[in-house]
Amino acid sequence: RDHQVKQQISLLDQASQFYREQLRSANTRDKAIQYLQQRGLSGQIASQFQIGYAPAGWDNLIQHFSDQKDATSLLEKAGMVIHNEEKNRHYDRFRDRIMFPIRDMRGRVIAFGGRVLGDDKPKYLNSPETDTFHKSRELYGLYEARQSNRQLNRLLIVEGYMDVVGLAQNGITWAVATLGTATTEQHLIRLFKLVPELIFCFDGDQAGRKAALRALDIALPALQDGKSVRFLFLPEGEDPDSLIRQEGQSAFEQRILNATPLSTFFFNNLSEGFNLDSMDDRARLASTALPPIRSMQPGLLQQMMLDRVSEITGLSAEQLASLINLHKISQP
Ligand code: GTP
Ligand code: MN
Ligand code: MN
Ligand code: MN
Ligand code: MN
Repeated sequence: RDHQVKQQISLLDQASQFYREQLRSANTRDKAIQYLQQRGLSGQIASQFQIGYAPAGWDNLIQHFSDQKDATSLLEKAGMVIHNEEKNRHYDRFRDRIMFPIRDMRGRVIAFGGRVLGDDKPKYLNSPETDTFHKSRELYGLYEARQSNRQLNRLLIVEGYMDVVGLAQNGITWAVATLGTATTEQHLIRLFKLVPELIFCFDGDQAGRKAALRALDIALPALQDGKSVRFLFLPEGEDPDSLIRQEGQSAFEQRILNATPLSTFFFNNLSEGFNLDSMDDRARLASTALPPIRSMQPGLLQQMMLDRVSEITGLSAEQLASLINLHKISQP
């Protein structure tokens, strides 16, 4: 098994090199280079992220490996080749796409994301889950962020590959992206081992706001004293990449400074739709607030958030605390 993993890692590394060569030598390089330039990326950033291009055509990658024994079936296991059972044919998974290699903490390529150059669907294609690639655990850009920063104190969590790369292009070298999945508890546990502060920055659209609410739920149990989570909300229609290109590094950094602390986001969101003059609404608010607060680790922030609920509802902090404990006992 160990041998197989090594073989797969080596294969993916060679594939990544192949894709990068396409940006230099192939006769199709022009449109890929043009695409990267149009998105504001320099050659230096493209090479730092090892961005490449998968040429059009059904089996360029397969052909590239044709002198290696069993390469096609190994490529298939690595998620790079698709086997059409009906026609009994193998073809490249990634065709005519800009390629973003996903690297693990040690810098080894473990998967790819590929973007179409135009408006075709799907816009992005990811490697499938393999023995070495688990989407809910990995983060795009983490290796690069650690490489670029002697010491990381915080990480910006964004939605997309282009957000990570576009931010780096504009001087913010500490962003990471989940791979087309929602943020998971595993992500946060992993990141909090590396840095004490996480800032979520999702797209300024309906999906992004939904993702922020989900991230709030996931973050509450992962928070410990000494750690913090904040949320940076973007103007409607913008994402980190589009916004930093438009307004530049220092304006974006100002937004980061002003990002909303988790507890503020929690209470803003909580009090929406409640009339605090009504006792019934205050009771409802308390019962909405208690389960997420109960999900937190015991500590200062949990205590302060309970105090806040107490201020809002008029219930004493002791009453609230005992409610939480009661529920803990009655729901083993
Ligand atoms: P650009 O258009 O290149 O700026 O991409 P974006 O990152 O802004 O895309 P978007 O906000 O639509 O999506 C955010 C992330 O979700 C992407 O980076 C992908 O990881 C993922 N994603 C978007 N579209 C697709 C898709 O069609 N298929 C899959 N599997 N993932 C997608
Ligand atoms: Mn096969
Ligand atoms: Mn979006
Ligand atoms: Mn974008
Ligand atoms: Mn986006």
